[in-house]
Parts: sequence; C-alpha cells; structure tokens
Amino acid sequence: MKKITKAIIPAAGLGTRMLPIAKSVPKEMLPIVDKPCMQYLVEEAAAAGITDILIITGRGKEAIEDYFDYSLEYNTKLYASGKDALAEELNAIANLANISFVRQKEAKGLGHAVYCAKSFVGDDPFAVLYGDDVIVSKTPVVKQLTDVYYEYGLGVAGVKKVTPEQIVKYCSLKVDNLRDNVYKVSDMIEKPSPDKIFSLFSILGRVVLPPEIFDILETTPRGANNEIQLTDAMCTLARSKGMTACEFEGTRYDIGSKLGMLIANIEQGLLHPETGKALKEYLKGLKID
Ligand code: UTP
Repeated sequence: MKKITKAIIPAAGLGTRMLPIAKSVPKEMLPIVDKPCMQYLVEEAAAAGITDILIITGRGKEAIEDYFDYSLEYNTKLYASGKDALAEELNAIANLANISFVRQKEAKGLGHAVYCAKSFVGDDPFAVLYGDDVIVSKTPVVKQLTDVYYEYGLGVAGVKKVTPEQIVKYCSLKVDNLRDNVYKVSDMIEKPSPDKIFSLFSILGRVVLPPEIFDILETTPRGANNEIQLTDAMCTLARSKGMTACEFEGTRYDIGSKLGMLIANIEQGLLHPETGKALKEYLKGLKID
C-alpha cells in the first residue's frame, strides 16, 4: 500500500465568524499563546510523517506564505546580535516540511478548496487538515488516521461525538463499529435537520482520502450554504467504495469561532511553561458572577 506523505491544509475561507479580525488577518494565523494556529497544523502533519504540504490560500492570506519562509531581515539582525538560537528557531519553522501554496480564486466551499489540490495529489492517498481545527493530542491525529488507512485501505474520517445542538451545524455519520474506536461509515449528511441525524458522530477537522475523491468532487454540486461540500463528496465515496471513521484521541479547538479561540488560549495558556502559573493565579482571583 502507498505511504501517505502528502497533506492539504485548506485555509482560503472568508472566516465570517471571526470578523472583524478576519477582514485583514487570516484566522489561521491567529495565535494560541505564542504560535499561529497554522503552525500547530503543520507540526502535527510533520510529526505524522507528512513530507509535502499544500496550503490552499486566497486573497488576503499572504501572511501564511511569509510565515513559512526564511526572513532575511530577522536573520541578518538576529545573527548580527548573537541571537543565533532564535534565528535558527525561526528558520526551523520554514523547514518543517516542503510547503507549497495554491490559491482558491473564489471561496466556493471546502470541497472546492480540496479540489484545487488535484495536481499536487496526483495518484496518491493524502491527508486533509481543516485550517481552523487545531487538535492537541499525544499521537498526532493524522498518524492515528493513517494507521487506520493502512489497516483497512479505505478513506478515514477523524470523528468525535458532539451534542445534539452541535450536530445540526456539523455533519452526521451513519456508522457500524469495526473495533474499539474504529467504525465503518456507510452514509453521511452535512448540516442535517433534526429528523435526518444518523448519529452524533461528526467529522472534526481531519480526514485521509484516496485520490478517487477528485473524480467525485468534479461532479459534486453545490450543497449546504450553496458551497461545494467535501462531506457530500465523501458521502458518495462512503456509499460506493466505503469509508471508515476513527474516533481520535485529542482535544480539538474550533479556532474559526470566537469562543473556540478563547478556550484554546486559556487551556493551552495554562499548560504553557511561560504563562501557566501566572494565568492560573489570575483565573483563580477572577470574580465571575
Ligand atoms: P469553514 O467553513 O469553517 O471556514 O471551513 P470559513 O468559510 O472560513 O468560515 P465561516 O463560516 O465564514 O466563519 C473550514 C476550513 O476550510 C477552509 C477555511 O479556511 C477553513 O480553514 N475553506 C473553507 C477554504 O479553504 N475554502 C472555502 O471555500 C471554504
């Protein structure tokens, strides 16, 4: 079976839930403590053995490209002032993987964003890390999913159970248990009305897909929110060839929402060696009524 070495990170969405900041700062570049969300994603992919990453960008997202490049100005300044370690730390960000970029000219949906990676992917299976889902875990979630791909040879959705209030805003999967945290997926639906919910299992930010998904995406019409939905294409795949789902271990932060971003910063701020102790003291003293 082919090894999975390629990943796509779609980051071309307009981020309307994060306005006004998303008007000129890509939400994927907002920080969790001291690192932009995009760095968490690239680090996760690299730690899972991914060597080539294609980031799907769009107008106004240039900050992402600059971040994963060497900075001549910083290098000159930092090396000249003897701060070699800091300069090397910054350069290491650019060396996490072979990172390339392609523009989605119009934000027509996640399915369309993934379709923009067709020539990058070619004939290989690949991982997708949704640009606004940061997941902190012991084993990189991409690795948890690729392991299931090698076991069953089918596309894998990273899933968790969500609440009935959340499922109508996400997608819902029809599943049968294969073993402990792995399921066979036979159907799925994006943003289901309450009478169309299959289960509370929803895809949260990570999938591994076979290259056949591109033929399906080519003919997938616009769906929920008038966007070309990746879920609709995966639904066709699940109904024909079959898919699996892996209930992954890890804490997922929806950094595409204001509350998700705040929770990520508080929880990770409490774990961070520079801020943890002081933040804990601050929160303890906070009067909340
Ligand atoms: P979302 O639907 O959460 O992102 O897509 P959005 O459209 O930016 O968010 P809102 O609803 O307007 O607030 C999940 C990921 O897919 C990317 C987004 O950048 C995000 O990281 N995406 C979405 C694209 O790359 N292209 C699209 O057309 C849509």
